[in-house]
Amino acid sequence: MKLTERVQRIKPSPTMAITAKAKLMKAEGIDVVGFAAGEPDFDTPDFIKEAAIKAIREGKTKYTPESGLPDLKKAVQQKFKRDNQLDYNLDEIIVSCGGKHSLYNIAQVLFQEGDEVIIPAPYWVSYPDQVLLNDAKPVVIQTREENGFCITPEDLEKAITPKTKAVVINSPSNPTGSAYNADQLKALAQVIVTHNIHCIADEIYEKIIYDGFVFKSIASFNEDIKKLTITVNGASKVYSMTGWRMGYAAGPKEIVSAMSKLQGQVTSNINTPTQYACITALNGSQDFLKGWIAAFKERRDYILSRFSQIPGIKCFKPQGAFYVFPNISACFGKSANGKTINTAQNLADYLLDQHRVAVVPGEGFGAPNNMRLSYALSMKDIEKGLDRIEEGLKNLK
Ligand SMILES: Cc1ncc(COP(=O)(O)O)c(C=O)c1O
Repeated sequence: MKLTERVQRIKPSPTMAITAKAKLMKAEGIDVVGFAAGEPDFDTPDFIKEAAIKAIREGKTKYTPESGLPDLKKAVQQKFKRDNQLDYNLDEIIVSCGGKHSLYNIAQVLFQEGDEVIIPAPYWVSYPDQVLLNDAKPVVIQTREENGFCITPEDLEKAITPKTKAVVINSPSNPTGSAYNADQLKALAQVIVTHNIHCIADEIYEKIIYDGFVFKSIASFNEDIKKLTITVNGASKVYSMTGWRMGYAAGPKEIVSAMSKLQGQVTSNINTPTQYACITALNGSQDFLKGWIAAFKERRDYILSRFSQIPGIKCFKPQGAFYVFPNISACFGKSANGKTINTAQNLADYLLDQHRVAVVPGEGFGAPNNMRLSYALSMKDIEKGLDRIEEGLKNLK
């Protein structure tokens, strides 16, 4: 069998791989603490679930327009106005099967052979592979922890060539939890506008922020940057609806129409009851989030305080999302039970196989000195997992 060269360019998602291995061990009765999942541990709020059940009962189970129900697009339009001071017409909005699908649609309609797409590292695992699937070249800018894992306007300027088509800005970030403040974004927007490239703004963790951080959408500064930006968001993280599959994007009409045309030939509309649930989610009270964010913050602070006491671990304090991304390179060259740790992958394998803790190694995020821990699990499990990590690292000599 001969598979396409295209599909051979990409690798399986590393987060999915480690989660699957941990699940398999759990199914075998092994007590694994999982820090790998990229989804909140809270249940989807009942009022959202009820809206889907009601839609199904009322027979709202058929095809809808490919880019989403008009009422859902109106709810997204209102959300952008309310939360991001962004005005979009309905034909500038598309609803897709998750933020990942929106991002893929963007890549399909904007990138082709000869194009370069700038991606700051550490990056979310799918950005480079979606670029590669569309015959373009990912150009990675390495950020520095001292700069809060953010790129500077100078970094961006240096990476731009005549082939540059777009830059991806993910704030708050998966995997680092770093976030760009308004001044940083404004400075990047200036470079983007000067060079007339596109900005893909992945704002899926927008609401999960701590310590009074003020979130700002890059597209909101002025019309020039808005015309170049496609903003992506979704229901997965903010409403704990990862399995429902709803994401959305807003941007210039020409790009969004092309994405709709593409979607019409590939998936058609997203699941119809999910659309009704998301109308209710977006238009309803967002009060439940306060409790979720307070719980995330408590867990983040606990993990940071534990890491600060473990020799060999250096951990950046995240401003958003629900991940910590410690630097574990001090473990390299050390051994336990005859196994030497030379890479983040080695460390993740060691922690899972010998200490029953699942973490995601940094290689897949373009950060081979780090590992990612999600804190979407109970405090009790976090305590247990950190005890195991501490023990595992102590045994490395
Ligand atoms: C940075 C980032 N963008 C986009 C997504 C896509 O999420 P979904 O497709 O569930 O909306 C994720 C999910 O992990 C993410 O972390």
